[in-house]
Amino acid sequence: MRVLLVGSGGREHALAWKLAQSSTLTELHAAPGNPGMARLAHCHPIRAEDAEGVLGLATSVDADLVVVGPEIPLVLGLADVLRRFGFAVFGPGKRAAAIEGSKSFAKEVMAAAAVPTAEQLPIARPPCVVKADGLAAGKGVHVCRSQEEVDAALRAVAGLGERVVVEEFLEGPEVSLLAICDGRQALPLVSAQDFKRARDGDEGPNTGGMGAYAPVPGIGPAEVDELVSASIRPVLAELDRRRTPFIGLLYAGLMLTPGGPHVLEFNCRFGDPETQAVLPLLEGDLLEVLAAASSGELAGMAMEASADSAVTVVLTAHGYPVEGSRGSQITGVDDAEALGALVFHAGTALHGERLVTNGGRILGVTGLGDTVAGARAAAYAAVDRIEFEGMRHRSDIAQAAADGLVLGLSGSPEG
Ligand code: AMP
Ligand code: GLY
Repeated sequence: MRVLLVGSGGREHALAWKLAQSSTLTELHAAPGNPGMARLAHCHPIRAEDAEGVLGLATSVDADLVVVGPEIPLVLGLADVLRRFGFAVFGPGKRAAAIEGSKSFAKEVMAAAAVPTAEQLPIARPPCVVKADGLAAGKGVHVCRSQEEVDAALRAVAGLGERVVVEEFLEGPEVSLLAICDGRQALPLVSAQDFKRARDGDEGPNTGGMGAYAPVPGIGPAEVDELVSASIRPVLAELDRRRTPFIGLLYAGLMLTPGGPHVLEFNCRFGDPETQAVLPLLEGDLLEVLAAASSGELAGMAMEASADSAVTVVLTAHGYPVEGSRGSQITGVDDAEALGALVFHAGTALHGERLVTNGGRILGVTGLGDTVAGARAAAYAAVDRIEFEGMRHRSDIAQAAADGLVLGLSGSPEG
C-alpha cells in the first residue's frame, strides 16, 4: 500500500515510524515531513495547509491511503477535497472536524449526545474558564480564579478575534483518550496523560504539550472502554445521525472529577505528544487498522498493546511557548537512540549534514520499560545525551505515576 502522511511534527514522525513497520506498506510519502521522517519516508516540500498541493501529490504518487496528522488542514476541509477525488483518507471531513474547530459546536453535540462536560455559563464570573471558540493552538483557554483574570482572558480572546465560550471550572486529574473511528465504530488505544504547562509542578503557561506517558495506572482496558462508551461512542453516533460521520482519530480530553468523568475538549486527530508514547506500545499493524477505518470496516479489528509503559519527554527551545529557536546545532541524538530510546523530530531542520533547531518543540524522546518508573528512567537517560543551545525540558514528566499514584474514575488516587 502506498501511503501519504500529511504533517511535520513529532506526532507525524511517530506515525511514520509505526506505519513503516507494516508488512503491507510499499511506499511512504510525507508532506512536508521533517528530517526524522526523511529516514522513513519520501518527503515532499508541500505544506499541510496547501490542499491543492496535497491533492496533486496524492495523485502523482497514486496514494492508496492519505493519513492527515494536524488539525488545521482537517478543520479547513482537506479530507473532503481528497475524498471528492476518490482517495481513501484517515481523517474527518470539515463538518466532523468542527468537533475540535469550534468549542460551541462541540458543546452542542455533547448536549445532544448526553456526554458529561463542563456546564456553559451565561456570564464570566470567577472561578470559571474562558475559551476562544475556534482553533488557537493551545492559547485559547484561560482558567480564571479572580475578576482580574476574567477581564484579561476576555481581552485576550477578543484579541484573537474569536467568540467567547465560558464554562464552569472543574478540578481533577486529566486523561487523554484516543480512539480510531470508522464513522460508526471506535477502537480505543491505551490511556495516556499529557503535561500541558511549560514548567515543573504544572506551573507556567499552557503549551502544545511538554511530555506524556501511557498507559495511565488505574485506567486500563476496562476503564478505557467505560470512558469511551460515555464520551466518544455517543459523539460518533450523533455525528453519524447528522450525516457527517467521523472517520479518523477522535481524541477526548477528560477530567476525572469527584462527580465523574467530564469531557473538556475533543480533538479531531492524534494527540501530540501522546502519540509518541502510545504508538510504541501498540503491537498490531497500524496501517491495516487505519486503512480499515477509512473504508468503514473496523468491525472485528483489534489493536493489542504490550504490557510495557512509555514516557515521552519533549525538548524545547529556551523561549517556548513564546519563541522558538532556529539554526542551533543538535548533538547526541544517535547516542540517545543507542540507549534504546526513540527520538521523534518535531522542530528540526538539516543544514547540510548538520541537524539544527527549527521551532519551539524540537524533539520528543520516548523511553520504554516494563514499569512507568523504568520507562521514565530510560527517557531521561536518553534526554541527558542530547544537547542544543537553550534546550529546556520538564523534569517531572510521569513522576507521580512512577512514584505509584494510581487513578480511579472519580479522580481520587487509589494507591
Ligand atoms: P482544552 O484546550 O479545552 O483542553 O483546555 C486546555 C486545558 O485547560 C485543559 O487541559 C485543562 O487543564 C484546562 N481546562 C479546560 N477546561 C477546563 C475546565 N472546565 N475546568 C478546569 N480546567 C479546564
Ligand atoms: N496533547 C494535547 C493535544 O494534542 O491537543
